[in-house]
Amino acid sequence: MEVIHEVATVRQYIRVARQRGCRIGCVPTMGALHPGHLSLVEECRKHVDEVVVTIFVNPTQFGPNEDFQKYPRPLEKDLALCRENGVAYVFAPGKDSLYPAGFDTWVEVDQLTSMLEGEHRPGHFRGVTTIVCKLLNIVQPDVACFGAKDYQQQAVIRRMVLDLDIPTEILTCPTIREPDGLALSSRNVYLSLEEREIALSLSRALNHVQSAVASGQRDWSQLETEMATQLSSAGVDLQYAVIRHPETLQSVDESPSHVVALIAGYVGKTRLIDNMRIPVA
Ligand code: PAF
Repeated sequence: MEVIHEVATVRQYIRVARQRGCRIGCVPTMGALHPGHLSLVEECRKHVDEVVVTIFVNPTQFGPNEDFQKYPRPLEKDLALCRENGVAYVFAPGKDSLYPAGFDTWVEVDQLTSMLEGEHRPGHFRGVTTIVCKLLNIVQPDVACFGAKDYQQQAVIRRMVLDLDIPTEILTCPTIREPDGLALSSRNVYLSLEEREIALSLSRALNHVQSAVASGQRDWSQLETEMATQLSSAGVDLQYAVIRHPETLQSVDESPSHVVALIAGYVGKTRLIDNMRIPVA
C-alpha cells in the first residue's frame, strides 16, 4: 500500500495504474476509520481493481464553533486498517496541498443544501462539495463510495456529479450499526456511557417510524411529532426529526414508493445524525 501526501504523486500513481488497465475506486474519508468506512472499502473493491482511500479532515466543512480542532486523527491506526483491508493507495494530503494560498473557488449545490443539515450547519455543504469535487478531479475514479449515514451529503454529491458531468459512478452504501442500533460514526468516541444510552433513542425513533409505516400509518406529520417527542424525552436536544421524499428531500405530498426519516440533534455536546429509508408498500 502506498501512502501519498502530494497531489502530483497520487496523480502519477493513478496514471500508471490506468496504464496497467486498472479500474480505480475512491473512498473519501476524514479518517478515524471504523467498520462503516471499511464497508465502503469492501464495496468499492467489488467494482474496481484498485481502491484509493483519501484521509483529510476538511477544514472548510466545519463551522466556527464545530469540532474541527478536536476531530480524531489516528493516522497510524487508519493506515493499518487500510493495509489490512486491501487498499492500494492512501492519499493523506496536508491542508496546504488542497487549499494553497490564494485558493478562491467554491462548488455549491443550491436547492438541496438549503434545508436540514444545510440550515443547521451554514457553509457545511459548500465545504463538502468543494473538497469532494477536488478529490474526484485529482483521483478521477470510476467509482466513489459514500455512506447512507450522511444521507443528505450523498444526495448533494450525486446532484453535483450529475450537474458538473463528473464521470464517476457514485455508490451509496448502507449505514453500519452497533448490535444495539447505534449508527457508527467517528464522533461516537465523544459520547460518555450515559450519553451513548441517550444516543440509542435515534435508531429507536427510526425503528418506530419503520414499524408504523409497515402497519399502514401514512400521517407523516403525526409520525414526525412522535419522533420528536420520543427523542426529546430521551434527552436529545433535537434539531430536526422529519420525514421527506428520498430524492428531493422535500416534504412528502403524494404517495411515494419510499420515504426517508432524518434526525439530527445534540446528545450532550456531540451532534449526531441518523436516518432510515423506508419502503411505503
Ligand atoms: O463524509 C465525510 O467523511 C466527509 O464529509 C467527506 C465526504 C470525506 C468530505 O470531507
